[in-house]
Parts: sequence; structure tokens; C-alpha cells
Amino acid sequence: MKPLTQMALEVLQTADGREKTALSHAHAAAWRAARSDDARPEIGRAAPPLQPARPAKPDLVSPRDVPRRKPGSPEGRIAMMHAVAHIELNAVDLHWDVIARFGHLDLPIGFCDDWVQAADEESKHFNLMCDCLEAEGSFYGALPAHAGMWRAAEETADDLMARLAVVPMVLEARGLDVTPGMIDLFRRAHATGAVAALETIYAEEVAHVAYGSKWFHFLCGRENCDPKPTFHALVRRYFHAPLKPPFNTEKRADAGLPPDFYWPLADLPKAQSK
Ligand SMILES: [Fe+2]
Ligand SMILES: [Fe+2]
Repeated sequence: MKPLTQMALEVLQTADGREKTALSHAHAAAWRAARSDDARPEIGRAAPPLQPARPAKPDLVSPRDVPRRKPGSPEGRIAMMHAVAHIELNAVDLHWDVIARFGHLDLPIGFCDDWVQAADEESKHFNLMCDCLEAEGSFYGALPAHAGMWRAAEETADDLMARLAVVPMVLEARGLDVTPGMIDLFRRAHATGAVAALETIYAEEVAHVAYGSKWFHFLCGRENCDPKPTFHALVRRYFHAPLKPPFNTEKRADAGLPPDFYWPLADLPKAQSK
């Protein structure tokens, strides 16, 4: 097996979405095989690019230029699946980037196991969404996509605790809040393929948030800092926006995110005025 950080780098350097996810699955399988023969396979050290390679399409545009379509319409459903596919492709890179950038740090080997597992699942999620788009006669790249999605990764490139706070514990937790509404929307349209894909995504994302919380708490424990105020300070510094209720209290609890972590960061006045 190649060093794990080298495998992570190869995924980050692959531009095409389907090729990226195929390599991601292959590397995840190689890591699991190596882990079953060897307690601690080589992790190595990489210098990942600030931005991963991406396909020529979709065009990446400012969020206000991503076309909005009526949520209940067929075009609206395609736009939503396209947006989810884009999120999943970013998530593949985000998880391999954690390994490439921070894998060499002195951490229990379970840190690598968790993020390889998450990256492997994100690769499945991207392919599921591409399959749904293709079943509707569209494809990933057919519409413009949100350009800002890698910003959180760039801003937290030097700080693992900030990366864990912002990516799994804020962004992926937000996925837990909004996915049930999306599933309902596709269920009302009898889009059974998309419902099944989103249910898989929803079930597996809980663990990604949980990995974030687990390793955030581990690092706080090792640095002897109080997790809750540390989380609040990092999110305020790196996320730049209040968190949007309503929150999925139940799934957030399953993922090890208690309410006193997220409510103090919520956009209360605006939410109440809606
Ligand atoms: Fe995902
Ligand atoms: Fe995820």
C-alpha cells in the first residue's frame, strides 16, 4: 500500500467526479485491507494543494447566480439533485483533505479510519446523486454550482480543530437539518430513486458529524481546553454566519452535538421574525 496521505493526494488531484470517486473507493478498500494485516500502515506526509482538482463543468458561480427553480417542479428537483451532487463531491475532497493535511499529526489510527470511511461514503453519495440526475436525463455539470463551498477548507487549512468545528460539526450537521425536508419533497413527487439515495445519505451523514465531534473532543482533551467555548470561538472566527434553525435535535444528539453547542450560535432574531 502507498502511504495514506499519498493516496489522499491522488484523489484530490483527480478532476473528473466519477474518476475521483472510483479512486476514492479503491484507496479506501486498500486502506481497510492494509489495516486488517497491519496495526499501523504507513501514513506518510503530503503537501496537499489549497484547492482540489475539479472538472471543467459545472461552472462555479456565486451562490446568488445559482439558478433557483420552483422546488416542486421537475426542473426544481433536478436543480436540487445537482446541488446535492456538488456538495457530495466537495465532501469527498474535504475528507481526503483532512487526511492529506492532518494525517501525519500524532493521533490515534482511528482518526484515519474514520475519515477514510467518511470519504468512501461521500464517494457513494456523489455517484448516487449522479445516477439520479442521469435517470432524469441530466448530469453533474449540466447546471452552474456554488463556488464558495471550498472556502471553509481554505480558511481552516492550518488548524485541525477549526476544520472539525466548521466542516463536520457545522456544515455536515446542517445537512442533517435539511435532508428530511428534501426527502419529503421527492417523496411527494414519487421520485423513489432520489428518496432512496437521500435516505442512504441521511443515515450515513450522522456518523460523519459524530467523527467530527469525537475528534474535536479528543483534541480539546489533549490540549486541556473546554470544548464548548472553544467550539463557539472557532465557529465565530471561521464560519462568519449565524447557524440557521430549525435544528435536527435528535440526529444532532445521535452525532454527539448537544444543543448548548449550536443554539448560542443561532440566528435567533431573524428566525423568530420569519
Ligand atoms: Fe455525503
Ligand atoms: Fe458527510
